[in-house]
Amino acid sequence: MIGHYVRRFFTSLSRRPPTDADERWVESIVSSEELLLFRRLSNTDRRHLVHSARMVERLDPSIDPIWVRAAVLHDVGKYSAHLGVFGRVVATVLATVLGASRMDAWATRSGWRGRIGRYQRHGEIGAAEIRASHGPEEAAVWSELHHHRDQFATSALPAAALGILDAADH
Ligand SMILES: [Fe+2]
Ligand SMILES: [Fe+2]
Repeated sequence: MIGHYVRRFFTSLSRRPPTDADERWVESIVSSEELLLFRRLSNTDRRHLVHSARMVERLDPSIDPIWVRAAVLHDVGKYSAHLGVFGRVVATVLATVLGASRMDAWATRSGWRGRIGRYQRHGEIGAAEIRASHGPEEAAVWSELHHHRDQFATSALPAAALGILDAADH
């Protein structure tokens, strides 16, 4: 888990935007309401989502396109935290030290505690935003599930799709 975040930290140091072709590709996948959720995100987050969705296609070229759409939306909830690279590292360390329930309690607070708490809950926040934008339920469920591997087995999502989505999120 920590190793994943350390790797992500180094790849996230680049601030370049996704290519125009990548932006057009996303427009062809999501609805106009979902596109608003995507476009608010930083270059780094948009690049990660494009990479994840392209990886889903690469891992299974015949996969139902709903899962490519789910991949491109799974981190839209990060917007609510307004945390940069350094703040995310702090959030991850604090979550490890203080535990998930304290982070959940912080999510509704103002100030830096609120931003850290909301970062830890970005999957759940994104799911609510996807539903409010009339996005597909599959995408909402993947958003709220993607940091909870312990819940994969009891999820309604097909195991094959979950395996590919999870592999494509790294
Ligand atoms: Fe995430
Ligand atoms: Fe992600």
